[in-house]
Amino acid sequence: MRMTVIGTGYVGTVHAACMAGIGHDVLGVDIDAERVAALAAGRAPLHEKGLDALLARGTAAGRLRFTTSLTEAARFADLHFVCVGTPQRPDGDGADLRFVDAVVEGLGPRLRPGALVVGKSTVPVGTAARIRRRLTDLAPGTEVAWNPEFLREGAAVHDTMRPERLVLGVSSPRAETLLRAAYGPLLRRGVPVFTTDPATAELVKVASNAFLATKISFVNAMAEVCDAAGADVTLLARAMGADTRIGPRFLDPGLGFGGSCFPKDIRAFAARAEELGAGPAVAFLHEVDRINTRQRRRTVDRARALLGGGFAGRRVGVLGAAFKPGSDDVRDSPALAVAAAVAAEGGAVRVHDPQALDNARAAYPDLTYALDVPKACEDADLVLHLTQWPEYRALSPAALVPLVRTPTVLDARNCLDGRVWGAAGWAFHALGGPAAGGAS
Ligand SMILES: NC(=O)c1ccc[n+]([C@@H]2O[C@H](COP(=O)([O-])OP(=O)(O)OC[C@H]3O[C@@H](n4cnc5c(N)ncnc54)[C@H](O)[C@@H]3O)[C@@H](O)[C@H]2O)c1
Repeated sequence: MRMTVIGTGYVGTVHAACMAGIGHDVLGVDIDAERVAALAAGRAPLHEKGLDALLARGTAAGRLRFTTSLTEAARFADLHFVCVGTPQRPDGDGADLRFVDAVVEGLGPRLRPGALVVGKSTVPVGTAARIRRRLTDLAPGTEVAWNPEFLREGAAVHDTMRPERLVLGVSSPRAETLLRAAYGPLLRRGVPVFTTDPATAELVKVASNAFLATKISFVNAMAEVCDAAGADVTLLARAMGADTRIGPRFLDPGLGFGGSCFPKDIRAFAARAEELGAGPAVAFLHEVDRINTRQRRRTVDRARALLGGGFAGRRVGVLGAAFKPGSDDVRDSPALAVAAAVAAEGGAVRVHDPQALDNARAAYPDLTYALDVPKACEDADLVLHLTQWPEYRALSPAALVPLVRTPTVLDARNCLDGRVWGAAGWAFHALGGPAAGGAS
């Protein structure tokens, strides 16, 4: 099938490469000419496992091209996936839909009758209906569907090729047939499909993110109670997670969530519910957000306490800049927020990350960066573990001891092996461990 993918960021690049990978003819579209040129030359603008190979294969086979022209897009295909960003509005909590609207205004008048516009961007419920009304004027005889994206950064190619489910929010059997044909090779692998109306599809996405964010903030709230009570939240989470009704995933106490999705999606959800008169139903999301933000402060407070009350003149090695492992995305990264807060209080911070250093430098040019872990830890009075890269779990703590000034580490992601670090001579502290107790 021929299809376009409009917006070639994290979602669009992966979607375009995977659709070409399963045999479709794909035209990727972006307003960022530099990005389009890089993609056309086979260079991914982001780090995702397996993406480079898929891009190379798609472009070499002639099944994957890129352009900046919506006119070319409208002529190329009658199936258009919209993957542009929907960030938080600069003036409030709601979603900024200007990129989605720009696509509708730019593509609409050029669409051929029968074209299907499929939103993948995460949007407030009601957006598909609003776009459909607009396209009734701009492009009679076209249709709108919503097919939210659930990929996880860091596993984006895997999640696109083997999704846990597909949600097809459609208004006609024809739209469903087209989407089932587009995903045919995946469906033959047995991927479950949920066919809904567009509004329900929009809501499945935000409700799922809201649920996961709530689970993370729940366990972090328990961490605060454990701190106050002298209990161990790591053990508590493990014991809770053993209950199959609860499950262990997303129940890791620590620095909390960040990135370009959860924070803005829960805010936009609460704002949209408010507009619909259902604000009280999801008012708890404000608390979920507050708990999450508080974890960054808790980490800084804990680090300051470990240094005896202040950062001024102290060296702090920071392990991690990406908002999560497997990705080079630093948007709303908890790790960088903590590093910047420590630097703002006079700490001499040196940040390492296996993949995200370029993006981190662009976002926080005033921080100092290190190309390897030893350099980040050199002469450190404290090492902060802030992104749970497997590389950091594989470190030899004994090899780092001679490099640092004081072998003290704070594991804000609760995933390093405290016994191994302790045995190597480190004073090991975890955000999930007892605040005053030292080794945990
Ligand atoms: N990143 C994720 O993990 C993820 C997962 C699921 C859903 N989503 C949702 O998917 C959407 C895209 O997210 P992302 O992280 O890929 O965003 P992104 O910011 O990485 O990419 C958006 C791209 O759209 C392009 N763009 C903007 N306006 C355009 C226009 N008028 N025409 C063509 N291109 C245009 C931008 O140049 C950019 O390359 C968002 O709604 C997001 O919430 C993201």
